[in-house]
Amino acid sequence: GAPRPLAGKHVLVTAGPTHEPIDPVRYIANRSSGKQGYAIAGALAALGAKVTLVSGPVTLATPPGVTRIDVETAQEMANAVAQALPADAAIMVAAVGDWHVERAEQKLKKQGGSPPRLELAENPDILAMLGASPRRPGLVVGFAAETEQVLEHAAAKRTRKGADWIVANDVSGDVMGGEANAVHLVTADGVESWERLPKDEVARRLAQRIADAL
Ligand code: C5P
Repeated sequence: GAPRPLAGKHVLVTAGPTHEPIDPVRYIANRSSGKQGYAIAGALAALGAKVTLVSGPVTLATPPGVTRIDVETAQEMANAVAQALPADAAIMVAAVGDWHVERAEQKLKKQGGSPPRLELAENPDILAMLGASPRRPGLVVGFAAETEQVLEHAAAKRTRKGADWIVANDVSGDVMGGEANAVHLVTADGVESWERLPKDEVARRLAQRIADAL
């Protein structure tokens, strides 16, 4: 059979967007499709890893061999990640909402020309929590979706969040929801820029690099 270099390793992956409810029928979300994270979870499982995929709301099928935990909000995602530890590696691909709203119990109504004002509060940064955790996985990988100064922001994010690697991509084009991705792997040793590749191929290469590192 195929080589299984990640046999016996537990890898935690987050993927997808989060939904932050405003009231029972409305939410704040983002354009993440979950495709890159799901492809990574599948590629890791194909190399023999035990994969826990903590997923925001997406319409994708669970890859073969992956254990999926569905969540809605950033806080739920943070709780599910903490529950899933310990892990040998964590790959945080989710586009986690940065803010939540104090959720209204009842549907907000239009009234007399004064629209509701949404007050935003910060969400936990799951990657940063993991990077600083006493239960930190041996390898922590974050993603950085940027629209400008991609490499500078990614390198700063790597140290600020305590990640080993950051996979940086420029999302000013059609990456979100699209099938291809041009990424840069930012590590302590420097930057490796990969050519534009299908998301499945980015996933396979990254999974192989993770296998080499573990
Ligand atoms: O700061 P920024 O959102 O650009 O960081 C992106 C990286 O941090 C991704 O790996 C993402 O999954 C992770 N992240 C997180 N929790 C947050 C925000 C981002 O895990 N609240």
